[in-house]
Amino acid sequence: IWGLLQILDDGGDLTHWIYKKYPNMFKKIKGIVEESVTGVHRLYQLSKAGKLCVPAMNVNDSVTKQKFDNLYCCRESILDGLKRTTDVMFGGKQVVVCGYGEVGKGCCAALKAMGSIVYVTEIDPICALQACMDGFRLVKLNEVIRQADIVITCTGNKNVVTREHLDRMKNGCIVCNMGHSNTEIDVASLRTPELTWERVRSQVDHVIWPDGKRIVLLAEGRLLNLSCSTVPTFVLSITATTQALAMIELYNAPEGRYKQDVYLLPKKMGNKVDMNVIKGGFCYIFLANCFSIYQGEEFFLYPMMALHVDCLEIPSTDC
Ligand SMILES: NC(=O)c1ccc[n+]([C@@H]2O[C@H](COP(=O)([O-])OP(=O)(O)OC[C@H]3O[C@@H](n4cnc5c(N)ncnc54)[C@H](O)[C@@H]3O)[C@@H](O)[C@H]2O)c1
Repeated sequence: IWGLLQILDDGGDLTHWIYKKYPNMFKKIKGIVEESVTGVHRLYQLSKAGKLCVPAMNVNDSVTKQKFDNLYCCRESILDGLKRTTDVMFGGKQVVVCGYGEVGKGCCAALKAMGSIVYVTEIDPICALQACMDGFRLVKLNEVIRQADIVITCTGNKNVVTREHLDRMKNGCIVCNMGHSNTEIDVASLRTPELTWERVRSQVDHVIWPDGKRIVLLAEGRLLNLSCSTVPTFVLSITATTQALAMIELYNAPEGRYKQDVYLLPKKMGNKVDMNVIKGGFCYIFLANCFSIYQGEEFFLYPMMALHVDCLEIPSTDC
């Protein structure tokens, strides 16, 4: 006989499974901690339908997740992913980045720093303005698709790059996705008899048009960095730390603080993650039954890395 006190989920599948198979377990469960956009979306749907029976913590929208997992992680791994798969030289390349959210901002910053000419497409006026203020050319995808050397999707949206766009790309254009799942590039539309697919190396396909034009499709439209590059352990560690803090918060919260709803991690908890990392204190990787990162808590800890950043002012008061 086994039981659960909390659910730590990434995508909402475990939560869904417990709801379907073991609904009685929710009598003892103190809360759900959810990591991903998709899982959080599912939790909000449950909450809206009045079916969420325990409090849930939305880790996806916490600052430590958004900035490290989305922005800084993608800023590093976009170059790694492109380099490992194509050995492309970035300087002077015309790159279109679709979406200027956290992931898009990271990709644009990295490519600009490498000397690429970066164009941005956006549908949100504020993010569009931010792209302009940061010195990127705001364009419509149709306007630049013929001249692009690299097209990267980072929108979380569907069919951002359509078959029409793919038809108009120039020979050798590299196409990849850093956003959601495998739905941003309409890869299914390329599985037609007139196009030939040639696997040139792992995660790299040439799709060849009847006139000989080739586009270079990476990871079949799945997330480039998760499929083709490494993800910094530092980032994983921060995300794990944030998740653990959310679990501690839910577990220790006095009766009634959290109702059957979806909550953001309190900002002071996010600060604790930052300060714990900066202080050089510790970042820990967690085993399934390991719940605490804090000194003084009686749990099983696995030190993963220790950082020492001497040049920062650390407030003497407890953060
Ligand atoms: N590759 C990774 O490691 C990684 C890490 C974190 C998040 N993600 C995923 O990346 C996606 C984006 O995350 P984010 O944090 O940047 O989200 P975000 O909401 O901050 O940014 C997405 C941006 O895309 C814009 N957009 C939407 N549809 C568009 C379209 N058709 N054309 C142009 N712009 C469009 C939106 O207006 C928004 O500004 C999400 O699906 C997220 O799950 C990937």
